[in-house]
Amino acid sequence: MEYSLLTICYLIASITFILGLKMLSNPASARKGNQIAAIGMAIAIFGTIFLYEGKDIKLGNYLWIFGGIAIGTIIGAFAAKKVKMTDMPQMVSLFNGMGGACAAIISIVEFNHLMHDHSIGNSFLSDINGTNLLIIMAGLIIGSVSFTGSMIAWAKLDGRLHDYSFKGQHLVNIFLLLAAIGLSTFVLLSRPEQTILFFYIILGLSVMYGILFVMPIGGADMPVVISLLNSFTGVAAACGGFLYDNKAMMTGGILVGAAGTLLTMLMCKAMNRSLTNVLIGSFGGNAASAAASGGSQGQYKQISLSDTAVLMSYSSKVVIVPGYGLAVAQAQHACHELEKLLTEKGVQVTYAIHPVAGRMPGHMNVLLAEADVSYEKLKEMEEVNDEFPYVDAVLVLGANDVVNPAAKTDPTSPIYGMPILDVELAKHVIVNKRSMKPGYAGIENDLFFRPKTSMLFGDSKKVIQDLIAEIKNL
Ligand code: TAP
Repeated sequence: MEYSLLTICYLIASITFILGLKMLSNPASARKGNQIAAIGMAIAIFGTIFLYEGKDIKLGNYLWIFGGIAIGTIIGAFAAKKVKMTDMPQMVSLFNGMGGACAAIISIVEFNHLMHDHSIGNSFLSDINGTNLLIIMAGLIIGSVSFTGSMIAWAKLDGRLHDYSFKGQHLVNIFLLLAAIGLSTFVLLSRPEQTILFFYIILGLSVMYGILFVMPIGGADMPVVISLLNSFTGVAAACGGFLYDNKAMMTGGILVGAAGTLLTMLMCKAMNRSLTNVLIGSFGGNAASAAASGGSQGQYKQISLSDTAVLMSYSSKVVIVPGYGLAVAQAQHACHELEKLLTEKGVQVTYAIHPVAGRMPGHMNVLLAEADVSYEKLKEMEEVNDEFPYVDAVLVLGANDVVNPAAKTDPTSPIYGMPILDVELAKHVIVNKRSMKPGYAGIENDLFFRPKTSMLFGDSKKVIQDLIAEIKNL
């Protein structure tokens, strides 16, 4: 009776995970999707705690279990409430690392159980436990790589660590990985009493691999790496689900693994870079050399706040292009206010959203949603690119690479081939940023020097607030 009730709990949880994931793909339903999946997770957790009855095990240790849940819930809720939008990749990385650590710990615990249960004298593989050990080794390696890799990613994104590499590092990495896999095969073929030391050596090799694999990657490439590590954690969790024959854990892990892999591929595609290039290239981590490839482009012109106010107010179509700088300035609320003010004046205002604007997938969508910008106002790149020739004024707010025409025209540019927003086709382009410094890719932007472009320097939030005041005074 209990068993079938638990199965139903897992079924409900699995359905909510799939439903939640589907809803996350649309900004209008994302929040609800997240809540639905969280409810499913709660059902799976409490179902397991109260309804699980194994062959010879009944769950106990309620004080430890609920103590852990309470501490985790408080820390998680507090961190999620407190985190700044710009620090979101760090938080995702931390949470992901915790998932990897859990998977690795499950492997360590279950290895010890297996050692205990195993009939002395036989190799693991010749015994019924061979498959379980295979899963344990996979969970150990993938989970610990994901844990240490995510921790390094967090520290780098948070400015606590800098990129580090040494000559021949890639060879060392390959050696570590092959050694871990080779030793795992040895453990599988050996008798248990011979394997304990090797098991912990494999753990050490995986931990080292996670650190050395992420250390040299350009800090700004971390979102792609985090997405990749996220998929690793998913696979490691699925290993745990397989081990415990827990359908909800398996479904959750597989979904995270698949979604993380797809997201990694989509991010690479949107930046027109291969995953290998992200993992062993230095784009974004070597701004100085990249800047050299662009060179200085000559003169740019500036525009005053009052001229910008007049231009915006008397336009019939305005497109706002948000970028990383808007998130840094936390100017999303001011931006929404500007949009409402212009709309009241009869201007048609929309936002052009580039898939990799900002520093994480959906960064601009989340940022603008926080300021209650209507989803209908957000236009995807493919849709808005056809409209630019009919747009009177484009207001670029803290975006740079995603509007750089070199992606289309300069085969030597590191961003060549990356699809961009064709803002240069509009009648006027106003670019707001604080200086002429490059963005993430570390390259000059020819757009800033074009005849139709005017620079409006300053912190986005201050500039927008001043612009609102100017428009109100017109
Ligand atoms: P960026 O090219 O990084 O440019 C952002 C610009 O914002 C900078 O040039 C900076 O210029 C300006 N800025 C910074 N703080 C500001 C402030 N307070 N007020 C006004 N301006 C400010 O950003 P983007 O156009 O959004 O492009 C994103 C880049 O990140 C792409 O190259 C993309 O490939 C990469 N990337 C994205 C992702 C995801 S998933 N979104 C993941 C990894 C990498 P100043 O310093 O002169 O102000």
